[in-house]
Amino acid sequence: MQTQIIDGKALANQKRAELKKRVEALVTPPHLHVIWVGNNPSSRIYVHHKELAGASVGIQVTTHHLPETSSQDDLLALIGQLNHSVDADGILVQLPLPKHIDESDVLEAILPSKDVDGLTSFNLGCLLSGRPQMIPCTPQACIELIESVEPDLAGKLAVIVGRSRLVGKPLFQLLLAKHCTVIQTHSKTHNLTDLTQKADILVVATGHPGLIGGADIKPGAIVIDVGISKMPDGHLSGDVKTEDVLGIASAITPVPGGVGPMTVAMLLENVVLAAEHRQNSSEED
Ligand code: GUN
Repeated sequence: MQTQIIDGKALANQKRAELKKRVEALVTPPHLHVIWVGNNPSSRIYVHHKELAGASVGIQVTTHHLPETSSQDDLLALIGQLNHSVDADGILVQLPLPKHIDESDVLEAILPSKDVDGLTSFNLGCLLSGRPQMIPCTPQACIELIESVEPDLAGKLAVIVGRSRLVGKPLFQLLLAKHCTVIQTHSKTHNLTDLTQKADILVVATGHPGLIGGADIKPGAIVIDVGISKMPDGHLSGDVKTEDVLGIASAITPVPGGVGPMTVAMLLENVVLAAEHRQNSSEED
């Protein structure tokens, strides 16, 4: 079987072209505020990508880079200020945060209408109750990538490896809403391979490079590789041994160039949505 490599960069470019038009239709350009605490080298790259991608569609991006030693109160004070600012459509706190800061406390402080990462309890709850508002970016990117090769997901068996707040948990809800039968697996799952081998759609989001190989996959499966790890020789590796699954999977996302660029495009879409809502509701005042 010929395995299709899903071109996340090309799909993200298409999405960005659509967003650029929506931005041009707004009275003022949307403004995204990114809060980055410390000096995590991966975060530096992710934040830079967000700045460049925002600029490419006309979204203003301001990065607030705080020192590693910042207190939780410093962070909460900045979020409080941005929550009240008319010049902030979206607020994103880059993860991970330094160990002395409670991630949940910080995420919960973001006003749900400005929570462009979709990670507050409010937005996750909206997803669970079937009335989504801001949808988390990486899971939504997975859905768009899957649908680019298989528009009809009803009845498919989807297996997710990973249960994080950022990816695994919200993705379960999104796949369920597409009428998939969904199995969520994680580090304590027994006989993981028995489950992954049954998957029509396999999404792997663990951060363990090369966890999934050819023998773990059902012939014809769609494989979405969310993991991205920097290896000692400097190259980037996903959670799936891509070479191993070529010829077995029907389609796979590459690393890099798969989920990453699409995730950034989904973030920009949430920022545009937030700005559209704000500008439409102020017209009604
Ligand atoms: N760190 C890695 N991916 C993400 C993401 O999608 N959002 C945030 N806030 N932090 C991240």
